[in-house]
Amino acid sequence: MAQQQRETWTTRVGFILAAVGSAVGLGNVWQFPFQTGANGGAAFIVVYLLAVFLIGFPAMLAEFVIGRRAERNPIDAFARLGHRNWKVVGALGTLSAFWILSFYSVVGGWVIRYVIGSVRGTYFGGSEAYFGAISAGPEAVAFHAVFMALTVGVVAFGVTDGIERSTKLMVPSIVVLLGGLAVWAGTLEGGAAGYAYYLSPDLDALLSNLGSILPAAVGQAFFTLSLGMGAMITYASYLGRDDSLPADGATIVILNTLVGLLAGLVVFPILFSLGVEPGSGGLGAAFITLAGAFAQLPAGRLLGVAFFVVLLLAALSSAISLLEVVTSYLVDNTDRSRRSLAVALGLAIFLLGVPSAFGLSILGWYNAIAYNLLLPLSVLCLLLFVGWVDAGDGVDELRRGTGLSESGAAAWLWFVRTVVPLGVLVTLLLGLQSLAVRADLLAEAIV
Ligand code: TRP
Repeated sequence: MAQQQRETWTTRVGFILAAVGSAVGLGNVWQFPFQTGANGGAAFIVVYLLAVFLIGFPAMLAEFVIGRRAERNPIDAFARLGHRNWKVVGALGTLSAFWILSFYSVVGGWVIRYVIGSVRGTYFGGSEAYFGAISAGPEAVAFHAVFMALTVGVVAFGVTDGIERSTKLMVPSIVVLLGGLAVWAGTLEGGAAGYAYYLSPDLDALLSNLGSILPAAVGQAFFTLSLGMGAMITYASYLGRDDSLPADGATIVILNTLVGLLAGLVVFPILFSLGVEPGSGGLGAAFITLAGAFAQLPAGRLLGVAFFVVLLLAALSSAISLLEVVTSYLVDNTDRSRRSLAVALGLAIFLLGVPSAFGLSILGWYNAIAYNLLLPLSVLCLLLFVGWVDAGDGVDELRRGTGLSESGAAAWLWFVRTVVPLGVLVTLLLGLQSLAVRADLLAEAIV
């Protein structure tokens, strides 16, 4: 067991920005506007916001409580808190981080490709053909490798010199660039219809589609808040300070939500000004329609570069949190250097992701397993742990460094015991159902 001094964040802002960097990712800038489009526009956003604040926020605090109390990686954390059997849950989260990063990095590779494509105007001739050419095959594998190498590069430098320093630069850049793009998008002719679609919910449609909107919204809330993979446990384990967990958590959740909404203010006016119906979700549609939009707009190259650079920074600051989950486990448990561990893990994760760089349907499977099974299952277990097993100590940890009253903490605990796990359970069941449907479709296609 390596017993060198464990690293900690140097400042409170450093921790918050690192966590925001983890949360803000492909999930906000790319997935969120398109999930919104695929699930009926503003009605989806209402459910999503409820899911973020009522389910995601308490669940994030649960991860923080585990991480800061144990000051260990997600697997050893449970043993350290006196519940060795629960290490399984930490292992599930760690493996899920491994899994998610393997295909997240493939998409990260596409984004690098689109930055280059924007600079050179390569996709201006035909955005659909461009996407087809770069999204699968040997070149997709090559850029998957480049993205992974960048991620390894940051994590190898460690918590303060690598993650904290880089996210302090990346997160503000994302906000400034995206804000600039939103202002520009506001000047587009015909874009106003996008705001209406995006900001005025149709409540009748909401009620009649709740069964499909709910799991999508909750799944999106978990993914965007980086829950269920031990990422927030790991980041909180480097706190080593008595800051207020609820205040920091609220800051992170609010910033992440604002960035998502801001991305919508960029994407929807663009789509509407070009008469594109945003309902067609899907992994490739986002790239094809947006790149197609840039190709038609004046100064499209510049805007394309700005947009895809935002996406790249967002993807990178999230990917490092996923790699850090796995790396922290080995750093805590072996005598090898962080640098060599990060490289070795990066290589292994790269290999796991290679199949998903050979076809969108394979990538879709990787994504669906994460969304519908791994995330909700892992969050559910964490909630049961904090709500029922470690309850009293968790409440004390939550109150440390805050003026939170006993009744405030009790309200949180009650929520974490009842409402939140029930919501997650429903999501998990609906998610399993949709996985089964997917498997049936696949079987039919094979037969
Ligand atoms: N939150 C990131 C996004 O929105 C992705 C991510 C990073 C993530 N770390 C995670 C998702 C941990 C789930 C769990 O793109």
